[in-house]
Amino acid sequence: MTKTEQPRTQWLGRWGFVLAATGSAVGLGNVWKFPYMTGEYGGGAFVLVYLVCILAVGVPVMMTEILLGRRGRGSPIDAIGRMASESGRSPAWSVLGWMAMLCGFLILSFYVVVAGWSFAYLWKMLSGGLAGSSVDDMASIFAANNANPWSLGAWSSLVAVATMLIVGKGVQSGIEKSVSWMMPGMVIMLVIMIGYGAFSGGFGEALTFLFAFNANSLSSEGMLAAMGHAFFTLSLASGAILTYGSYLPRQASIARTTLTVALADTLVALMAGLAIFPVIFANGLEPGSGPGLIFMSLPLAFQAMPLGTLFGILFFVMLSMAALTSSISMVEATVSWLTDNKGLSRRSAAWGTGIVLWLISTMAMLSFNVGAEWTLLGKHFFDWLDFLTSRLMMPLGGLGMALMAGFVLNRASLREELGLSPTAHGLWLFMVRYVSPLGIVVIFVDALGWFDIDFADHWPWLVLLLAAMTLLGELLRPGMKEAPSD
Ligand code: TRP
Repeated sequence: MTKTEQPRTQWLGRWGFVLAATGSAVGLGNVWKFPYMTGEYGGGAFVLVYLVCILAVGVPVMMTEILLGRRGRGSPIDAIGRMASESGRSPAWSVLGWMAMLCGFLILSFYVVVAGWSFAYLWKMLSGGLAGSSVDDMASIFAANNANPWSLGAWSSLVAVATMLIVGKGVQSGIEKSVSWMMPGMVIMLVIMIGYGAFSGGFGEALTFLFAFNANSLSSEGMLAAMGHAFFTLSLASGAILTYGSYLPRQASIARTTLTVALADTLVALMAGLAIFPVIFANGLEPGSGPGLIFMSLPLAFQAMPLGTLFGILFFVMLSMAALTSSISMVEATVSWLTDNKGLSRRSAAWGTGIVLWLISTMAMLSFNVGAEWTLLGKHFFDWLDFLTSRLMMPLGGLGMALMAGFVLNRASLREELGLSPTAHGLWLFMVRYVSPLGIVVIFVDALGWFDIDFADHWPWLVLLLAAMTLLGELLRPGMKEAPSD
């Protein structure tokens, strides 16, 4: 109680927030998931839908999160609770904060396993453990890597320890300091990789694949995947961005910083595609090979190329750094909440969180070996964590925050905090009230799998529905136009 009255820590440098939030956003999602999803869902058309989702849902929701964090001056639970009271609403809205904090924590418990793959592959590259001459050889190396719980567990524990070490050091000397060299470092490595790809002979094919729009390859499944991925890649609705936003100085523009982060995240995803696909095409491999794209096809391609091992090492160093700057953001909400409310030092909060995290992530890791048979409704523990967070908690949390900002919070406070021109403010409000919620509900309905609707075929109906919702919303809530300011 008394602690939260103290002025809150702020980022030291002008770029502190942008670097940290971009570090959170740029991660396995950009370098591992985005390229393989683009491969699976057919290239350019998927990329286009993904860009639309970033703009229509990602950016407005990210602005909302930063706003809630900065004005609420705290971790998700405290900040959302305070924002609700400021507008004279029920403190029960802070359940959104609880869900976000839990979501970030649960994501981390399976994220460390995938980040552990990256570290393990870096080691294999360095020690020559990736020799093989066919996709099948690479598949057996990948399977062997997962089959041994001791080594797999050691790699994911290493990621967990590194995360807690950084977070335990504090916002400025831990998080800000580490992202301020890791982010530029990873961008430099990515640029070098693109240069290498440009000379591999597959660059033209990669460009066509990523940017040629082919409407036929656009499936409804691909559209929904694009929307879900927009949330994941921007680290939304899981406490990370909100908590980082609570350290953002007053004078920074929320809209401008959000656009910078979203643009940087998108550029890195596209750049990762430009680094990976030329190498894949130059070696006649399949772009649509799924999650194994960078762990099986890519190492195989590197082997066949001059200086391949060197570039392979570079690639996995880059991936590991991208993963770490994301993992530190996922526990920040929990650590910040513990230090503000439970009187713990950052160090004890980080290690305490780390122990619980380690137990859950070990369970997730065991899904790949010892616990391969432990399933519930056909899903492993690892898959459950992914499903619960990406498919349910993130969309629900994002929906809650968008609606809270759009309909519940005091409009004068929102206007003051965002400081936008009336037109820009109106656009943001229209997005969080109608466009983002409709988009989220569509993903959500799909995730539940109750209906088998082909949204790609019925998009005119969605536009009509949006218009009807807007009309109804604006007509039925005339009082919202000017809510009382206190
Ligand atoms: N955005 C990260 C990525 O693309 C993943 C991530 C980091 C994340 N922090 C998060 C996802 C918080 C959800 C919530 O890899």
